[in-house]
Amino acid sequence: MPGRLEPDEMPRRDWLGLAGLWTAALAVGGSLVGMARLPKPRVSPEASSRFRAGSPLEYPPGTVKVLPDQIVRMIATEAGVAALSLVCTHLGCVVGEDADGGFLCPCHGSRFDAQGKVLGGPAPRPLRWLEVSQAADGALVVDAAREVPAGDFYPPTSGRPA
Ligand code: FES
Repeated sequence: MPGRLEPDEMPRRDWLGLAGLWTAALAVGGSLVGMARLPKPRVSPEASSRFRAGSPLEYPPGTVKVLPDQIVRMIATEAGVAALSLVCTHLGCVVGEDADGGFLCPCHGSRFDAQGKVLGGPAPRPLRWLEVSQAADGALVVDAAREVPAGDFYPPTSGRPA
């Protein structure tokens, strides 16, 4: 029998009951914390590789237009509209237009013709031609993640001047 100065020994059944209660409380608390964080996700969605390039009305045949924010040159011919990436295929610098209508990479000197074919330098591949399509509202959409064969022009189905 315990004396006045010795604490009562906790019976095993009470100890297991208390442990179960604390475990349940921790589980409920953890769940509440998790639910409170749901509206504010910790991961940010990846930026889309697709962007709008404007109305087909902006691309009558013969148009050549650089979209500087997207590092793309839009080219319009009778056959349709195409998008040529201005990112060098060597190490990813942005190429600039040269006097001959082609492109020159300022980083290591690769040269490309107006269709993106390599004319010289360390670039291993031609500039990329990007997929062009049309959104439901008729706007042209370029997908920078999807490459198409060189010379592949997208013929807009609507809204393009002759
Ligand atoms: S990055 Fe263009 S030549 Fe090296």
